[in-house]
Amino acid sequence: MKIGVPTEVRSEECRVAATPETVKKMIGLGCQVLVQKGAGERASVTDAAYKAVGAELVSAKEVFKVDLILKVRAPETAEIKAMKAGTVLIGLLEPFNQPQLKTIAEQGITAFSLEALPRNSRAQSMDVLSSQANVAGYKAVLLGSHFYQRFMPMLMTSAGTVKAARVLVLGAGVAGLQAIATAKRLGAVVEASDVRPAVKEQVESLGAKFLDVPYETEEEKETAAGVGGYARPMSAAWMQRQAALVAQRAAEADIVISSALIPGREPPVLIRAETVANMKPGSVIIDMAAGSGSMLLGNIGCGNCPLTEANKVVLKHGVTIVGYTNLPSLVSADASAFYARNILEFLRLLISEGNFHIPADDELVTASLMCKDGQMTKK
Ligand code: NAI
Repeated sequence: MKIGVPTEVRSEECRVAATPETVKKMIGLGCQVLVQKGAGERASVTDAAYKAVGAELVSAKEVFKVDLILKVRAPETAEIKAMKAGTVLIGLLEPFNQPQLKTIAEQGITAFSLEALPRNSRAQSMDVLSSQANVAGYKAVLLGSHFYQRFMPMLMTSAGTVKAARVLVLGAGVAGLQAIATAKRLGAVVEASDVRPAVKEQVESLGAKFLDVPYETEEEKETAAGVGGYARPMSAAWMQRQAALVAQRAAEADIVISSALIPGREPPVLIRAETVANMKPGSVIIDMAAGSGSMLLGNIGCGNCPLTEANKVVLKHGVTIVGYTNLPSLVSADASAFYARNILEFLRLLISEGNFHIPADDELVTASLMCKDGQMTKK
């Protein structure tokens, strides 16, 4: 089986889908690995490092003439057209992006979208959403400290004393929890909010204060528990109470990191324009949900704050709002290392002794299979 690893072509994408470590293991699985020259350059991996473990370095044209393609981001039209019918494609293919998947299906490609893997314990080693969210949560805090023009920790110096920065984290899933841990390590005072009550204990175990938005009805309580670890949209009344609490806490905060998402929906608005207007000058918002609406639903979404602009840093009411949509790419070496290991574990379900086989009774495989034999497998 020949596996191809192309250079990512989407702008600002620095990650790569395989590293020398995983190439070596794929060769161990009985495969031949073709890596496009320069594919790892922006993730600090040289061509020589791939070659040293047995990869063949090839051109952009040759890399698509294989049996299986490993990608980070969904392929662009020219890349899809470069693949022959029957090619297997694995990557972050945006399972909600139906038109894109249709183009892939029409080319006769068998495609697996890793975002669609179930979040159960067997899938943990291949959970790309968690591995990349972890990286993103870390980088969000470093970006926050970069744009914040004061210190993060409390400092006592001969030139005076500096107070610790106050960080407010909205949405304490995988990214939010990593953001809390990173901000604590930098010496900030951290508060966090999430709709799911199960998160409270995790937030407190990281040394942050959990902001409770009380539930006023049984229905609210039930909705807040979510499904399968994910949040569900809350009632307008609860969102109103949350907005009031966020407005109050954001006015005290120096850095706000928001990462609230609901699968398949627009990101909830947590930081209203009037909340931004009441924040301290010099404070910073890192809106990690920026661009998620566009990714999921085909709209140019702002994120958790209506003033956010995707992929821009804007100054509104004296507050710097950062709307970068691809934070893992800013930590491309480690993000690629995690992602490549996730893919390798997924490949182990499909390849044995160099032969490819789709096990029809494996829920991890069937859940992530988006198209096969020219047909889309999901609606
Ligand atoms: P996500 O990226 O979909 O959402 C981020 C966070 O936003 C979630 O914690 C969600 O509750 C929160 N949120 C949504 N609406 C909100 C609102 N109005 N206000 C405040 N917060 C709001 O979630 P993520 O990080 O991908 O994972 C969520 C959960 O999935 C994890 O906490 C965990 O329980 C579960 N999970 C399970 C795994 C497993 O192996 N069993 C692996 C990874 C995650």
